[in-house]
Amino acid sequence: MRTDTGQVIRLADYRPADFVLERTDLTFELDPRSTKVEARLIFHRRAGVAADVPLVLDGDELTLSGLMLDQTDIDAGRYTATPDRLEIRDLPEDGPFEITVTTYIDPESNTQLMGLYRTNGVYCTQCEAEGFRRITYFPDRPDVLSPFTITIIADKETNPLLLSNGNFLGGGNYDEGRHFAAWFDPHPKPSYLFALVAGDLGVVEDTFTTASGNEVALKIYVEHGKEPRAAYAMDALKRSMAWDEERFGREYDLNIFQIVAVSDFNMGAMENKGLNVFNDKYVLADPETATDADYANIEAIIAHEYFHNWTGNRITCRDWFQLCLKEGLTVYRDHEFSADQRSRAVKRIAEVRHLKAEQFAEDAGPLAHPVRPETYREINNFYTTTVYEKGSEVTRMIATLLGEDGFRKGMDLYFDRHDGDAATVEDFVACFEDSSGRDLSQFKLWYSQAGTPLVTVSTAYDAVSQTFTLSLEQIIPATPGQSAKQPMHIPLKFTLLGENGGDIPPAAVSGGEVTGDVLHLTGRSQSFTFSGVPARPVLSLNRGFSAPINLSFDQSPADLAHIARHDSDLFARWQALSDLGLPVLVKAAKDVPEGRPVTVDGALVSALIETLADDRLEPAFRAQALSLASESDIAREIGGNNDPDAIHAGRDAVLKTIADKGFATFERLYRELAPKGEFTPDAASAGRRALRNVALTYLSHAGDSASLAAEAFAKADNMTELAHALTVLIHRFPDTDAALNALAAFATRFDSNPLALDKWFSIQATVPGETALERVEALMKDPRFNAQNPNRVRALIGTFAFANPTGFNRPDGKGYALLADQILAIDPKNPQLAARLLTAMRSWRALEPVRAEAAKTALGRITGARQLSADVADIVERMLK
Ligand code: PHE
Ligand code: ZN
Repeated sequence: MRTDTGQVIRLADYRPADFVLERTDLTFELDPRSTKVEARLIFHRRAGVAADVPLVLDGDELTLSGLMLDQTDIDAGRYTATPDRLEIRDLPEDGPFEITVTTYIDPESNTQLMGLYRTNGVYCTQCEAEGFRRITYFPDRPDVLSPFTITIIADKETNPLLLSNGNFLGGGNYDEGRHFAAWFDPHPKPSYLFALVAGDLGVVEDTFTTASGNEVALKIYVEHGKEPRAAYAMDALKRSMAWDEERFGREYDLNIFQIVAVSDFNMGAMENKGLNVFNDKYVLADPETATDADYANIEAIIAHEYFHNWTGNRITCRDWFQLCLKEGLTVYRDHEFSADQRSRAVKRIAEVRHLKAEQFAEDAGPLAHPVRPETYREINNFYTTTVYEKGSEVTRMIATLLGEDGFRKGMDLYFDRHDGDAATVEDFVACFEDSSGRDLSQFKLWYSQAGTPLVTVSTAYDAVSQTFTLSLEQIIPATPGQSAKQPMHIPLKFTLLGENGGDIPPAAVSGGEVTGDVLHLTGRSQSFTFSGVPARPVLSLNRGFSAPINLSFDQSPADLAHIARHDSDLFARWQALSDLGLPVLVKAAKDVPEGRPVTVDGALVSALIETLADDRLEPAFRAQALSLASESDIAREIGGNNDPDAIHAGRDAVLKTIADKGFATFERLYRELAPKGEFTPDAASAGRRALRNVALTYLSHAGDSASLAAEAFAKADNMTELAHALTVLIHRFPDTDAALNALAAFATRFDSNPLALDKWFSIQATVPGETALERVEALMKDPRFNAQNPNRVRALIGTFAFANPTGFNRPDGKGYALLADQILAIDPKNPQLAARLLTAMRSWRALEPVRAEAAKTALGRITGARQLSADVADIVERMLK
């Protein structure tokens, strides 16, 4: 474990490397406990670098076993080697030279899952961000690029497969039952995109012919016997390849594209050039074991990693501060892909729900940071929802400002100008400025200012002059290290709705720039006046969530209901329903502890039930509309002194009222939406299942027996309905025979399927209320629990901490204590996993005082621990600051 050094890395300190790397040639002799790595690196001194400047290579827990310059051993006096650094002096002043470094590493005992490790007998690497330096000494930074030649030697029987990046060069038998394979990747790349996989796996094969006629071999490797479960991933891959050609004019550039699914992985997946490595959760699917959400995630992540081939690999990042350059952009691309493959409005609703739940929460707490941070202590901690999801929203705003064609022009210029480069956010934005002529200097504040802007809205209509005035004010809250902020350029899509629901085109606007349906808020406060408006309009603002902001707008329930009924933008209709519901849920959370009856606004109930019953609307949309704000959404809206038990009880009471009023419709839909014919994972079928599940949830709140859910469990022919029925049983009727029997039946049926068993753990980890803690403790002792497997740890402990507000936030603090114990136990083995789990407590200051104090105690116990990884130390210190 790399323990904390407290060192801060700053964007302002960036300078290019002193030595240019021309070629990288690696030979691996694989052995579980002692793999030999020989790296032959050809360098030359960058022009202008003084002759006495040494070559410094990065390492992490390495021991040097051999070092040569141009094939001759180097005198001990000319270099200094420590586990994390190799310095070589007196190197040639000009002309290329070759350094050969030999190291031995131990993949079997690598529990961090960074560098070269073994999972279920398969050798696999993970190098982003700084894992390559755990393999050999190297200039491990994203702006050092070179072509790689890789030779892998390994026992043939246990490792029939020997894979690396690029195109296959050849292979054959070696000595002592070993064989070898050689790969060459002609595209210069930084070390974080290196990958090696070796072992014995099954394969699914296909081909894709690119627009210019090149045939690409496609291979997805999974454990033997799981091949049929990779079919959907393969289909998603081919659709991604076609879409990137069609939408962005980007073709694949090698003759082979490979994906390997592994069961121990810290993240979702990794875009190594030509050899993506995936958490198997995002590859494997069949109707019996995968939910519709799993299918959607597989499609999105397969696409995401594939799209990185251009946005990330062909054009990479100059340094890690530029991470959003590849991640935000690539998330935007995968969002657009999914929107094109599925229902655009429903996809957008899901994205915005996720953005608010995760990114808005991050931005409102102690871990808030800009989309492009300016300092970091541990880069692993910056693979955040701000860099990814807010980064994607910033890209989306550029597209909104420039229009679809303007955005494509800027992207074309970016690919043209920067292919092969390690680029910066400035380079990226300059392409859009240069291609459109639009000044984006104020817009760039989105990259540097953290915090979710709050836009306050007031409106006035004057019937005499037929003018409608819209006054806006923006406030960007203070965030760690940033107290005063500049006003930003906020693009707000809008429309003025007339009484009959149609759009009113205003005659003229003054007070600021309006282009088409986009209003540009650039001042701290600004008033727009629309003239020629014949009657008081209803303003629909921030349509499609064109800007990632909070709106403070006292819109009347009647106006919101009008938008919910009539807006031609389905997203805006959902947003209006959600804005109608949120104050009701907040009020309920306050009424319950005071013993006041919960009342639900009639406008809300009728708008919801009307939407529910409207068969012209796609079922997936109706399912979203009826899924009320989550408990953490309500907590965020309340904003402080939060009592999770009151929020939960209030929300339940609101659900029950809606369930009672809409009972007949829920029942009808539940019956009508019963599956007919064979399962298909397409979006329309998934939407029907989603709506049916929502109906079951409401019916379970209206009735007081487990029988309907038990029947749903017994009859389900797909995981989406099965897992939901089990959730309803365990969450609503926890100690009934029906629930206990279903739980046992699920475990028996999926005993040999780890991904399905993860669901079994998660469903139990989210049982509301105090008893969840004992359940989680018992499950940690279950023989099926595996503390070494990140997916299993996240399924039980992560889900408990992130997704069980009442259970985790017990007033006695035992939830926090459990998490703290787990973090301290996991940290020495897998710091990244530990640090990520800890972020579950990022909103602790918004809790009521008793809980907040208990949370602080648990965090204090973590900081006080004797040895912490850099990852956990960084998070916990920021959380306590
Ligand atoms: N770059 C990966 C992605 O988003 C994420 C990742 C980061 C994976 C670091 C592993 C380690 O596509
Ligand atoms: Zn990515």
